[in-house]
Amino acid sequence: MNKDIVCIGAGYIGGPTMAVIAKMNPDRRVVVVDIDERRIAAWNSPDFALPIYEPGLVEVVREVRGRNLFFSTDIKAAVKECDIVFVGVNTPTKMFGRGAGRASDLQYWEATAREIKEWADGDKIVIEKSTLPVRTAAAMEAILNHDARYRFTVLSNPEFLAEGTAVRDLLEPDRVLIGGPQDEAGRAAVAEAVEIYASWVPRERILTTNVWSAELTKLAANAFLAQRVSSINAIAGLCEATGADVDEVARVIGADRRIGPKFLKAGPGFGGSCFKKDVLNLVYLCESFGLHTAAEYWSGVIRMNEHQQERIVSRLFREMFNTLANRKIALFGFAFKADTGDTRETPAGAVARLLAAEHVRLAVTDPKALGNARRDLADLDGVVFEEDEYKAAEGADAVVLMTDWGRYPALDWRRIYGVMRKPALVYDTRNCLDAAALREIGFRVLNVGK
Ligand code: NAD
Ligand code: UDX
Repeated sequence: MNKDIVCIGAGYIGGPTMAVIAKMNPDRRVVVVDIDERRIAAWNSPDFALPIYEPGLVEVVREVRGRNLFFSTDIKAAVKECDIVFVGVNTPTKMFGRGAGRASDLQYWEATAREIKEWADGDKIVIEKSTLPVRTAAAMEAILNHDARYRFTVLSNPEFLAEGTAVRDLLEPDRVLIGGPQDEAGRAAVAEAVEIYASWVPRERILTTNVWSAELTKLAANAFLAQRVSSINAIAGLCEATGADVDEVARVIGADRRIGPKFLKAGPGFGGSCFKKDVLNLVYLCESFGLHTAAEYWSGVIRMNEHQQERIVSRLFREMFNTLANRKIALFGFAFKADTGDTRETPAGAVARLLAAEHVRLAVTDPKALGNARRDLADLDGVVFEEDEYKAAEGADAVVLMTDWGRYPALDWRRIYGVMRKPALVYDTRNCLDAAALREIGFRVLNVGK
C-alpha cells in the first residue's frame, strides 16, 4: 500500500482539506480530481485565481501546488496511482422521488463508488469525506466489494471545518473523527487514516469510532449548532416584543460554562450548504425509523430559521409604512456569512426574494459574492449589483445589512446617509454596526432582537 492520496471532488471541502493535508504531509503525493473542468482549471490557474475564496488558502496552495499537491480531471489515473481515496463530492438535498426535500441525493456519490471500482487495480481504503446519511458506508462497501477483484475498506472521516475559517479549522481542529469497521482490516485502515492527520494534529484529538457513529455524529453536530442559532433567534423575536436586548441575553446565557458563548448570535438565520441539508437529512432518518416526534423536533429548527427571514421582511414592511413597492432597498452583503463568497442557502437570498415579491427595487453589494449573487437572482427583474457600497446606497430608502463583513462597520456612514432618501433606514440584521453612532448621523436604525 502506498501513502499517496486521491480526493474525488475539488469543491469547498476537497480543495482546502487536501491543500492542508499536502502541506502537512510533504512526503505524500496528493491529487484532487473533479469532473468539472473549469473548476480544475481554476485550481491550476497560474495567477492562483482559485474557484473558492477562503482566507489563507491561496498561501497554502502557493506553497504546495506542483510540490506534492496536484489538481486534475484524470480520475482514472489518479485512482490507479493512489491506495487511499477520499470522496468529497456533493450530497445535496434530493429534490425528486422518495424523500424529496429531505433525503440526501446520493447520485454523485454512487457514481464515484462505481468509478473507483472500475479504475482500481489494487486494494484501496475509501474514505467518506462528504456528509452522508448513516449506513451509507455499508452501501458503498456493497457496491465496491460486490464481485470485486480487490478489497475495499470504507471509512467515515466527516469534516467539521466551517467556511471562512477553513484553513484555521483544518490546521487546528478541535477534533478529527475517523470511523471504521470493527474488524482487522477496518482497524488497519483506521490506523492508516490516523497517520495522515497525526503529522500535525495531537493524537488525543483524533477520535476513532465505528462507521455508523462517525456518520451520525456529523449530522448530529451540525443539527446541534443549527439548533443553537434557531434557539437564540426564537428569543430574539420575544426580545423585540418585550424590550429586552438579545445580545445582552445571549451574553449572560453564554457566561454559563455549561452553555458557553459560541453560536448564540441572533441574526437573519443560518445559511450555508450544510445546516439545512444536514438537519433535513436527520429529519428524514428519524422518520425512516418511525421516530416521528424526534423528526418533528428537528424540523422545528428549520421552521424557526425560515420564520426569522420572514420576520425581518415583515418588520421592514411595518417600519416602511406598509408599502415597499417601488422603494429602493440596498442589501449589504449576500454571502451566507463573512469571509466567504459562498451564497448557498444564504439568508440574503431568501430576504431578496421576499422583497422582490413586494416589488422592491433591489441593489445588492458584496465584496466577494457578487458573481454568485448575480447567478442566484438571475430570474428576478430590476435587481442591480454594485461593487461599491456607496453606489448601492444611492437613492435607497433603506440599507439592510445581511452579512457581517468586517468592512461594513468601517464604511463612511455619513457619506451613505448623504446619498440615501430620507428618512434613511438601516436594518442591521447582524447587530454589528454602532447603532448609537448611526442614530447620531440621522439614520433610523433597526436591529434583530432589540
Ligand atoms: P461542492 O459542490 O463545492 O464540491 C463537490 C465537487 O464534487 C464538485 O466540484 C463536483 O463537480 C464534484 N463531483 C461530483 N460528482 C463527481 C464525480 N462523479 N467525480 C468527480 N467529481 C465529482 O461541495 P462541498 O461544499 O465541497 O461539499 C462536499 C461534501 O462535503 C458534502 O457532502 C458536504 O455536505 C460536505 N461538507 C461540506 C462542508 C462545507 O463547508 N462546504 C463542510 C463539511 C462537510
Ligand atoms: C457549518 C459548521 O459550523 C461546520 O462545523 C460544518 O463542517 C459545516 O457547517 P458553515 O456553514 O461553513 O459551517 O458556517 P458556520 O460558521 O457554522 O455558520 C453557519 C450559519 O450560521 C451562517 O449563516 C452564520 O452566519 C450563522 N450563525 C452562526 C448565526 O447566525 N449565529 C451564530 O451564532 C453562528
